Amino acid sequence: MSPSRVYSFADFRARYPDCEEFMLLSDLRRQEYKRLDQQGHVYLDYTGGGLYPDRLVQEHAEFLRHVVLGNPHSQNPTSLASTHLMQQAREDVLRYFRADPDEYTVIFTANASAALKLVGESYPFQPGSHFCLVADNHNSVQGIREFARHKGAHITYVPLDPRTLRCPDLRPYLEHWDETKPNLFALPAQSNFSGVQHPLAAIELAHGLGYDVILDAAAFVPTNRLDLSQVHPDFVPISFYKMFGYPTGVGALLARRETLRKLVRPWFGGGTVRLVSTRADLHILAEDHEAFEDGTPNYLSFPAISMGLRLMEELDVDRIHRWVMALTGYLLEEMQALRHSNGAPLVRIYGPTNTTSRGGTIAFNLVDPEGEFFPYQLVEAEANERTISIRAGCFCNPGAGEFSLDISAEDVRRCVKQATMDGVFDVNLYHECLGSKPSGAVRASLGMVTSFEDIVRFLTFLTSYLDRKAPPAPRANPNC
Ligand SMILES: Cc1ncc(COP(=O)(O)O)c(C=O)c1O
Repeated sequence: MSPSRVYSFADFRARYPDCEEFMLLSDLRRQEYKRLDQQGHVYLDYTGGGLYPDRLVQEHAEFLRHVVLGNPHSQNPTSLASTHLMQQAREDVLRYFRADPDEYTVIFTANASAALKLVGESYPFQPGSHFCLVADNHNSVQGIREFARHKGAHITYVPLDPRTLRCPDLRPYLEHWDETKPNLFALPAQSNFSGVQHPLAAIELAHGLGYDVILDAAAFVPTNRLDLSQVHPDFVPISFYKMFGYPTGVGALLARRETLRKLVRPWFGGGTVRLVSTRADLHILAEDHEAFEDGTPNYLSFPAISMGLRLMEELDVDRIHRWVMALTGYLLEEMQALRHSNGAPLVRIYGPTNTTSRGGTIAFNLVDPEGEFFPYQLVEAEANERTISIRAGCFCNPGAGEFSLDISAEDVRRCVKQATMDGVFDVNLYHECLGSKPSGAVRASLGMVTSFEDIVRFLTFLTSYLDRKAPPAPRANPNC
């Protein structure tokens, strides 16, 4: 086994001297997240969900104790109070993202997936349209291809470099399509698999070639500034629980008003219409965001959105970014320094191995001294025993998974065929069929209140795999 490494905060500070400035976040962790340390948690699944500070739930509960809020779809006093808070939250979201209210509006949804589905189902794809998407998108973006396909659009995937998990030059994938048709391009600002940050310059490139652009910012905004006065994507889905942990069940689609007008809603529902007639069989949709907010919104939650955004402003997302990236840099270096006695590396990182153009999400597998992979299911189970929360599988990002793990279209087709009997697909058989290749990975993702101690406990956990032999992969559902 390689000589055991000593992880000291002094060493971390020497390597990342800026971190002095970030004591504010350490204080926040100590004061507002006591429950983590009291219960011995190491939480490294911030891309899955952020964690709320005590004060956010307290402030929200206290606020609710002193107001009377009704369903916002009426004109009575309690209803108007809710409408006011919802409108306040809408303005706060626009201000937080520095979006000009004349250019952008905010549609509240249940989560980022619902925001993406709104675009997918309403986008006016037609025969000859082009839907171009980077392979490194979340499943909730991938699903839009089914709407595109049904309406006769062409679908093109931008592949990833299997080593860096970055995109090639996008221009060849975007140009030479019919600019008179509605064309849509989708890219994630930050990969929820590898943490890669794709260049935001792609937005203007795509605009120039006749595309509307979805920038999936769900994994980006918790630790990065998105400034919509600098970049102008047409649709930006987010989930608030990923930013400040609370409340769950509310997301948003920030939409450019001009592009929003192109969307054609395939249905109407409560709250989205000005008029519906059963006898004349007609309906007139509401305007603007109202046409897209189906049914009763999660109206008690809106004050908490405003409070959460105020907290992010107070902490300063640029500071959060620098803190998370310092810890990520340290973690990446130390993971790569872990070597078995024979000198073989323990960790295979997928995507960038340094902090250039990436966020605090690291996908990896562990490899034994002979080069065999430790099943990611085993790593997850053993992390669970130590109350370390990581994620394992392919994290709803099949494209990055396939490119990094070298799973070809042929592999997928062959194994789907082999795993399907009498029309029933057995996911375990599918993964067995992929054989010695890992069919998923492990993901550690850092966030606003990750501490140096979390990183040390995680690294210490990883050292327990040094000089161990990997067992065969178990049969397990990898959550793809
Ligand atoms: C990049 C990205 N997009 C979309 C989503 C979907 O978010 P939600 O599950 O909140 O709808 C996620 C969730 O992890 C994500 O990371």
